[in-house]
Amino acid sequence: MSVVAQFEEGLGHAASEYKAAFDAARDEPALRAANARYTGPSGIVTKLLKLMPELPKEQRRELGQRANRLKEEIESELAARLASLAHAQRAAELSGPALDVTLPGYGVRAGHAHPLTRVKHELLDLFAGLGFDIAEGPEVDLHENNFDRLGFPPDHPATDMQDTFFMQQPPGVSPRATLLRTHTSTVQVREMLRRKPPLAVVSAGAVFRRDDDVTHSPMFMQLEGFMVDEGVSFAHLKGVLTHFLRRLFGQNVPVRFRPSYFPFVEPGGEVDVGCTICRSWELGPRECRVCKNTGFMEILGCGMIHPVVFEHVGYDPERFTGFAFGMGLDRVAMLRYGIAEVGLLYGNDVRFLAQL
Ligand code: PHE
Repeated sequence: MSVVAQFEEGLGHAASEYKAAFDAARDEPALRAANARYTGPSGIVTKLLKLMPELPKEQRRELGQRANRLKEEIESELAARLASLAHAQRAAELSGPALDVTLPGYGVRAGHAHPLTRVKHELLDLFAGLGFDIAEGPEVDLHENNFDRLGFPPDHPATDMQDTFFMQQPPGVSPRATLLRTHTSTVQVREMLRRKPPLAVVSAGAVFRRDDDVTHSPMFMQLEGFMVDEGVSFAHLKGVLTHFLRRLFGQNVPVRFRPSYFPFVEPGGEVDVGCTICRSWELGPRECRVCKNTGFMEILGCGMIHPVVFEHVGYDPERFTGFAFGMGLDRVAMLRYGIAEVGLLYGNDVRFLAQL
C-alpha cells in the first residue's frame, strides 16, 4: 500500500472513530485517555503527521492540512466535552442534598476517673490540707510489716492462710515471709522505720483479704493516716477525724466513736457516721438495707498507737504518743455518691460509672 493510501486510511479511521471513543468515556481521566489515543505523543494523528516528510510533494500540503484540521477538531471536541462534564458535575452538586456546615458535629464524650480514684484523691487532698504528708507503700510486703511489728501475736487469726494471701516462696524460705498486705497499716511501720517524729502521714491503696461474698471483695481500697509527736492525745484523734468526716459528709452528719480492738492501738475504737443513703438522722427512722436500719455506717478503725509498735520501730514510747486510723475507701465512696451496693464499684460497668 502506498504511503498516501496508508495516510488516507489512517485519517479516515481516526475521523470516524474518535467520537465513539469519547462517547464511551464517562469521566475526565477516561476522556483524556481516549484523546491520547488520537492526539497524544504516540496517538494515531500524531503518527500520521510524523509521516508527512515521506509523502509525495504534490499531496503533502493537502494531506497535511487535513491531518491538522482533524487534530484541531479532536482537540476542540475534547475541550467541549470536558466543559460539559464539569458543568454536569456542578449541576449535580447544586441539586443534591445541601451540606450544612453549621450543624453540630458528633461530640467526643470525655471519660473521668473511677469514683474510688476520685474519693482517694479527694481524701488525700483533704489531709494534705491539714498538714499530712502523702506516702506510698507496696502491695506485696513482709509478714513483719503487716503483722509482727504491729503487735499481732503469731497465732492471731488474721495471720492465717484462711484470711491472708501469702506469696509463693523459694524452698528454704518461710511460706509466710511475704504477702499481699491485708491493710494499709504497713505504711505506718514503713514510714516510722524511715523517719523520726514529729510525723503526720496519710497513704491510700489496695489491700487484699480472703473474703469474697456479696459485701466483700478480695481486693478493696483503704486509706491510712497517723500522727506521732510528744503530747499527741485522743483529743487530737477525735478532733482530726470529726473535722474530716464533717468536711466530707456535711456539718450536721452524726459521728459516733465506739471502743474496739486492734492489736496495734490502745485504746482502740471504731467510728460510725450517719448513713447518707437513708439520712435517718434528719428524715426519721427508715427501712435501709445499706445500714440495716441502724442509721449508721461503720467507716473506720482508729486508736492511740500501741507502745509496742513504737518499740518495734525504735521510738521511745515514754516520750512519743500518736494516733492512727484506717478506713475503707469503698465505704466512703458509697456514702459520698449514694451507692447502695459495693459490688457496683468493682464491676466496671460504664453504664453505672458514667452516672457518677
Ligand atoms: N488496719 C485496720 C483495718 O484494716 C484499721 C485501723 C487502722 C485500725 C489504724 C486502727 C488504726 O481494719
